[in-house]
Amino acid sequence: ASGCKIGPSILNSDLASLGAECLRMLDSGADYLHLDAPCSSGRHFVPNITFGHPVVESLRKQLGQDPFFDMHMMVSRPEQWVKPMAVAGANQYTFHLEATDNPGALIKDIRENGMKVGLAIKPGTSVEYLAPWANQIDMALVMTVEPGFGGQKFMDDMMPKVHWLRTQFPSLDIEVDGGVGPDTIHKCAEAGANMIVSGSAIMRSEDPRSVINLLRNVCSE
Ligand code: DX5
Ligand code: ZN
Repeated sequence: ASGCKIGPSILNSDLASLGAECLRMLDSGADYLHLDAPCSSGRHFVPNITFGHPVVESLRKQLGQDPFFDMHMMVSRPEQWVKPMAVAGANQYTFHLEATDNPGALIKDIRENGMKVGLAIKPGTSVEYLAPWANQIDMALVMTVEPGFGGQKFMDDMMPKVHWLRTQFPSLDIEVDGGVGPDTIHKCAEAGANMIVSGSAIMRSEDPRSVINLLRNVCSE
């Protein structure tokens, strides 16, 4: 796809130095930041926990107005955090279809709070469930691992979902997340993804700039 964007995921970074890690990614040419906010409270959505809107607010203060924050809300009650995340400075609110009974109302609420709308599906969720909402959202996120942790193995068999969405909705932003790096980017690109999340492949590299450039170049071919 032309105009591929690369969004490093900071889940596997040194969270005690989150601001510095985000700056390092932006200085290395990141197009946006993919901020994972899993939470294990209530009905367990994913068995992990990172940070919430107070940290996002601090990041916004430190990094200024420019960086685009894509919030990956791996939480069981996504309705709860729309306003706090908007106030804190999030640009896009990506929630999981599995986590809500009323996607339509949530989409509306996110927009009314001035954010872009991302809609994510877990590996076990069929893409047909996402399709009815595709014309109302800015981005579809096709998870390529079970959400929760960085450093997992990329699931090839999610690519037909991406390909199908690209065929049906040519102008929709389609994001892939989980196990994406130099070894798997060509599959994502071929299927039609144009927003590329990559955590450990970038974070663990000595030279994040070259990994980001490589991912962007392969994706845009
Ligand atoms: C997984 C998260 C991802 C994760 C990606 O639950 O949603 O954003 O941090 O990390 P890698 O690229 O290492 O799989
Ligand atoms: Zn994520």
